[in-house]
Amino acid sequence: MEELFASPAMAAGYALARPAVHPHIISRIRAMLKIATPLPNTLDIGCGAGLSASPLTTLAECVYGIDPVHAMVRQATLAAPSVHFITAAAEALPFPEKSIHLITAAGSLNYTNLDAFFPEARRILTPGGALVVYDFSQGSRFSNSPKLEEWFDIFRKRYPAPPNCSRPLSPSILAEMAAGFKLSTSEEFVTSIPLTVSAYLEYIMTETNIAHAIRNGATPHEVRAWLGSSLGPVFNNQTMDVLFPSYTAYLK
Ligand SMILES: C[S@@+](CC[C@H](N)C(=O)[O-])C[C@H]1O[C@@H](n2cnc3c(N)ncnc32)[C@H](O)[C@@H]1O
Repeated sequence: MEELFASPAMAAGYALARPAVHPHIISRIRAMLKIATPLPNTLDIGCGAGLSASPLTTLAECVYGIDPVHAMVRQATLAAPSVHFITAAAEALPFPEKSIHLITAAGSLNYTNLDAFFPEARRILTPGGALVVYDFSQGSRFSNSPKLEEWFDIFRKRYPAPPNCSRPLSPSILAEMAAGFKLSTSEEFVTSIPLTVSAYLEYIMTETNIAHAIRNGATPHEVRAWLGSSLGPVFNNQTMDVLFPSYTAYLK
């Protein structure tokens, strides 16, 4: 896992080029939990380069983000200066008991030891606090044309995903695995983000498929050139709505 996320280039790419899916999902979470006034303390587990922690500042007075990969934490500190970032892992949370009102985890519990994490989450949550786990898949479809799906099939064959070191998660898997918690509700939905061809290209450059290809000898220059020439006709100079299949799971 470490080597997938540890490179400074990957961390910088995450901070600068990932589409803004998190703010949409955090707004849904705020509505679902009926958060009308800012919570005192929230914590984002596996905050990466800060994208999932940053929008929590809209619903909490104090936001913490933890990640075991120091390159990510360093980048996160630049991306979201008002968030308190700490290099730490989900299995040993550096917070006192009953101190956090909301814990979020975006695409990160897949890499953790859940038997160690859930008791830690229960320990630090305030009574009545919630753990919200969410994730979204790669943006591989347009809202109104099959062109991106077709392109994505070719992309995946040319640049396969790295051997999977992550555990698949979903609301139903979490309902079974989250010892000490109950799944109170969950949602599956699509987050639509308008992207230009260059924004989409930069996003794809941050995908682990590309990091894997580069580790195996491809050069960023040749990858970028292929992406540019193959994506041009797909976007046809238009800003397109790219769909990111998403879920949220509310554990209490
Ligand atoms: C797919 S990234 C998601 C990052 C961020 N939440 C986002 O959505 O942009 C997964 C993150 O989980 C972190 N991670 C891996 N193992 C972890 C652990 N044991 N505890 C906490 N975070 C972990 C990785 O370092 C990485 O930053």
